[in-house]
Amino acid sequence: MTVKRETFGSQLAAVAAMASSAIGLGNIWRFPYMAGQYGGAAFIIIYILCSFFLALPIMLSEMVIGRSAHLGTFGAMEKLAPGTKWKWMGLLTVVTPLIIASFYSVVGGWSIGYLWKSLTLSFSASSLEDSTLVFATFSSSVWGPLICFVLFLAINCIIVLAGVRKGIEKFSNFTMYFLFALIVVIMLYSLSLDGSKAGVDYLVKPDFHNLTPKVFSSAMGQSFFSLSLGVGTILTYSSYAHDEGKLVSIAAGTAGFDLIFAVIAGFAIMPAVFAAGISPGQGPGLIFSTLPYIFAKMGLTSPWISALVSILFFLMILVAAVSSCISMIEVGVAYLIEQHGFTRRGAVLLLFFGMLGLGALCSLSFGPLADVHIFGVSIFSFCDMLTSNYLMTFGGLLFVIFAGWKMDKEEVRRQLTNGASGTFASRIFGFEYFLIRYVSPLVIFAIFLTNLAS
Ligand code: TRP
Repeated sequence: MTVKRETFGSQLAAVAAMASSAIGLGNIWRFPYMAGQYGGAAFIIIYILCSFFLALPIMLSEMVIGRSAHLGTFGAMEKLAPGTKWKWMGLLTVVTPLIIASFYSVVGGWSIGYLWKSLTLSFSASSLEDSTLVFATFSSSVWGPLICFVLFLAINCIIVLAGVRKGIEKFSNFTMYFLFALIVVIMLYSLSLDGSKAGVDYLVKPDFHNLTPKVFSSAMGQSFFSLSLGVGTILTYSSYAHDEGKLVSIAAGTAGFDLIFAVIAGFAIMPAVFAAGISPGQGPGLIFSTLPYIFAKMGLTSPWISALVSILFFLMILVAAVSSCISMIEVGVAYLIEQHGFTRRGAVLLLFFGMLGLGALCSLSFGPLADVHIFGVSIFSFCDMLTSNYLMTFGGLLFVIFAGWKMDKEEVRRQLTNGASGTFASRIFGFEYFLIRYVSPLVIFAIFLTNLAS
């Protein structure tokens, strides 16, 4: 059976799609609060090291596997290692992104709710307690978050339904530039606030006194999450890349944009947090419970600017979240189309209902289902922990092992060098291959064990 496979239009389009997948809630919502909780500049330095030495090799491995086979995770594993158990890993990476997509869509839904609140000027956040209460009341109610969640999921499914080139590529090409423009505007505004300097210092002056193993495992988890690694997203997108595209450039472009965006997001959020006199270590509620207060405080002097900044901010979160969430859904769609002969529409519909069920449980776990605990945590936190701490790390580990030890070395070389054979190309390849084969798996394994033990 040969089905004509979809492709991205160009190398730049592939970078835009992957960077849009990478840039998301991970950069705007997760990165600033993680940096806030784990020591500011020191965390950022470790994060950069993890991105380069641990995450980049996984990204290259996923790219090599995906483009070599031109198939989604399950199909790629079966094609490159026929008759082995590796293909079951394909299945694992189909299930993982769907779990992520379910809880991710709940947060995506919150951004719709907050965008609506900003548009209707209905924030009442005269104090920090007030805005924390607004968030707690909103997230724990039944219908508001549920409706926003379904809306968010529907937007994603419509884009994925339109296909790789007409849906994903078009949307990603637009969002990349839109997101960068918005975050820079918000950063400039935030830096202009009185008292913002303390926030800048926090992000640039490292303090290595509180370095614990937890900081390392969190930095690694964050770099995997932010680059969409370990679940086959990058693998699937790479399977749509042309054979002439340079994988190393695509990977460097994606990781570079993602990192720059995360750092700018840090500089957009932390100075505002410090200017308002809020502690940076707030945790996950940082942007939803503290930023509306900051926006409202600005409103005392200029209500229109405050409303505008708040609308732009939540719009940006929404767009960033959508362009990431579609990349998770596409992994499952590719699997159903390739392995079970589904049409794109049938595949999207099936996944929509699956995510609807799991996501609704995650959404309700902030309200009526708050008492339902799995391994001591709420359904939402369980899905987050299970995927971020275990499944993604495990998936990433298996990808580097597959590319480094199972695949034919010459095929890996061909993919990474596009057949170039100069000394420079082979030196770079030698270094990348060393990272893929030894450094990345050993360090990830060590951190994985620490995670299991703690
Ligand atoms: N990288 C995205 C972000 O930073 C989230 C994301 C998209 C993701 N696809 C993924 C995370 C696959 C894990 C796996 O928000």
